[in-house]
Amino acid sequence: MLIETPEREVLMRAAEHAFAWLDGLDGLDSRSVATTASLEEMRARLGRPLADTGVAAAQVIDELVADTAGGILGSQGPRFFGWVIGGGVPSAIAADWLTSVWDQNAGIHACGPAASVVEEVAAGWLKDLFGLPAEASVGFVTGAQMAHATCLAAARHAVLRDRGWDVERRGLAGSPPIRILANAERHGSVDRAVRFMGLGSDNIVPLATDAEGRVEPRALRAALDAGEAPTIVVLQAGELNRAGFDPFDQLAPMARAAGAWTHVDGAFGLWAKASPAHRDLARGVELCDSWTTDAHKYLNVPYDSGLAMVRDAAAHRAAMTLATSYLPAGGAARDQIDWNPEFSRRARGFAIYAALRELGRDGVAELVARTSRHALALTEGIGALPGAETVATSALNQGLVRFLSPAAGASEADHDRRTDAVIAAIDASGEAFFGGVTFQGRRCMRISVCNWRTTDADVARTVAAVRAVLA
Ligand SMILES: Cc1ncc(COP(=O)(O)O)c(C=O)c1O
Repeated sequence: MLIETPEREVLMRAAEHAFAWLDGLDGLDSRSVATTASLEEMRARLGRPLADTGVAAAQVIDELVADTAGGILGSQGPRFFGWVIGGGVPSAIAADWLTSVWDQNAGIHACGPAASVVEEVAAGWLKDLFGLPAEASVGFVTGAQMAHATCLAAARHAVLRDRGWDVERRGLAGSPPIRILANAERHGSVDRAVRFMGLGSDNIVPLATDAEGRVEPRALRAALDAGEAPTIVVLQAGELNRAGFDPFDQLAPMARAAGAWTHVDGAFGLWAKASPAHRDLARGVELCDSWTTDAHKYLNVPYDSGLAMVRDAAAHRAAMTLATSYLPAGGAARDQIDWNPEFSRRARGFAIYAALRELGRDGVAELVARTSRHALALTEGIGALPGAETVATSALNQGLVRFLSPAAGASEADHDRRTDAVIAAIDASGEAFFGGVTFQGRRCMRISVCNWRTTDADVARTVAAVRAVLA
């Protein structure tokens, strides 16, 4: 017999709200992908004074749903192509709910043994999918941003250890200066992690890239030869606009021979390794030393979920670990605090474990292939519309188009304004959502497909929506 408790009532209520939200994602009920409530409306609805007396839990949830209506972006939905944002496969959403209910502190094994073992198992599956060394250690962090910070902490440890400097004990003041040789077209989160690690963004040397945004081997050769300092090389699997992949098979051995550590930003692109049809794009990535990726992008796990993977587990551990007398050490078990920058933390491994089981090896490969096919169809389909042009396609899930001003003698600035206006009009239509970017000096619309829900019908509906806006 079910016992009706206030807790059960509010959780059931939340589940009903969740189903209503999910049911509306396909847009059949004409819900807008973009938000429809203004900042002022959101503030007016949500900005109550904090009352002295509390409110019944179910009422809190009902009102939260009512007050946020129009302010929840449809990024979980199948026609959301902005930034690089994944959705959530059903088992991952459900496991994420259970993660909240179980509320394990996944900082150490003793606080949540199942959470620790789930990470251990999922880490093995992930390394296998990505073709990374079995001995690599894995930290389950909040996202690629903190994965970069974690990996660069390990890198910093290793390159200074090799010069006889214990950075964990002595800090950076007085240490040999570290230089960072990084793909010139990297994501800004790399620079931010460099700042977090105290390495200084002035110490980043940009490496020249080719037309696809890939580091030129001779640029790395020249940069390596130009100095003696401890060196971290930062490469990329999946450039933001064209999903370019650095030639790891050429660059990683060069960096290794020079005693440098090579880190890879594979926030979404590393998942290419999970698809036999795309694997070759990231050829040689396994030769590098550390890798960042996100589960909340391609694996379609709810936020926040990123992965820091490090070949030299000892360096990773040295940079992260913490021992105090009141924490029982796990012994043979995995203590996450050895691999994560957080102390107490959410047991985010459950959702990753669930998604990997739900999809299986073939499902992940198919997801990568399907989203890539959709990205190409969208880019070419929109690019072929009157008044549009394709700027870049990719072998993975990204593309770029722009829109041309019909005015006679229109300038580049006119095309830029037209592009931003068309993006705004598509988003305002509620049918689909895109973002803009300045690419090689010109405004473009970015097309990023990362969601398991997107179908051929969504692609067709989106192209039709853009056609209607252009008309
Ligand atoms: C290539 C790349 N690197 C890093 C990041 C940062 O990832 P996160 O937002 O998960 O920290 C992103 C985010 O879109 C990205 O696309």
